[in-house]
Amino acid sequence: GRQEELGSLHGIPLYKCFVEGWPQVEDFQARPDDLLIATYPKSGTTWLSEILDMIYHDGDVEKCRRDAIFNRVPFLEMKVPEMLTPCPAGVELLEKTPSPRLVKTHLPIQLLPTSFWDKNCKVIYMARNPKDVVISYYYFYQMAKIHPDPGTLNEFLETFMAAGVGLAYGSWYEHVRGWWEKKQEKQLLYLFYEDMKKDPQQEVQKILRFLGKEVAEGTVARILHHTSFQEMRKNPAANYETMPTAFMDHSLSPFLRKGISGDWKNHFTVAQNERFDRHYREHMEGSDLHFQMEV
Ligand code: A3P
Repeated sequence: GRQEELGSLHGIPLYKCFVEGWPQVEDFQARPDDLLIATYPKSGTTWLSEILDMIYHDGDVEKCRRDAIFNRVPFLEMKVPEMLTPCPAGVELLEKTPSPRLVKTHLPIQLLPTSFWDKNCKVIYMARNPKDVVISYYYFYQMAKIHPDPGTLNEFLETFMAAGVGLAYGSWYEHVRGWWEKKQEKQLLYLFYEDMKKDPQQEVQKILRFLGKEVAEGTVARILHHTSFQEMRKNPAANYETMPTAFMDHSLSPFLRKGISGDWKNHFTVAQNERFDRHYREHMEGSDLHFQMEV
């Protein structure tokens, strides 16, 4: 059944089972050739993961199809909840994964296990505008039973802005800003969902440069095709369809839902939008980080 409430990890609201698994995550031993994919939830994590997995397999679709995305790109802080049959996940799965590993996390920067910094691992962060994030998150709360009931959209907008006990991974503002500030001193590529929508080829080239990889032009085309919304949506290895219904109920909302920028306009009232804009301005003040609310 649905979780009643979230736990708390150093002040960040998080699923209780993840909090229980934390000691193992905190001590995680990164390897220098690990590539970390970091995002706030619903910002294009799965998309970026599929792109990177394709890059790592030189555009060989069959290799990328063999297993579900959550096995190919292990989720660092994942601790399997009771509603899932026991299967390796998180640190346990990562330890079994041969190098070079792709690692995914939603942790805010202050909670990232220090080993990633000590080993000087490369990081790709992807951010998405908060209006589309909150809508996507609202549907995700409904379909993924690990979340408490999100209530009405209006209630969830308040939850998102307040970033209190009901919001898994805490404040979006602190998340995107925290990782943005780290960009100066680390090997960190900061990407935007909206740019990826607008010009995926350019963004994939950016990733390749950051990784110091060269691939044939045809390979880039294959990567772009395989990771398009339409292709990923019909690929059970990419769209979480293989998850048990008790954990994710795709009849309530598919995991790959709409895949566009600006869907918030179909949901926000004028009043909600004004309130959200005010809140956004206050919380982004003084930052040179800017978001495109639509493309
Ligand atoms: P929507 O709910 O707005 O459709 P995450 O993987 O971080 O949980 O993010 C999920 C969001 O990314 C969903 O947004 C999903 O549809 C979108 N997404 C996943 N793959 C995509 C793709 N290939 N192109 C565009 N959007 C994609």
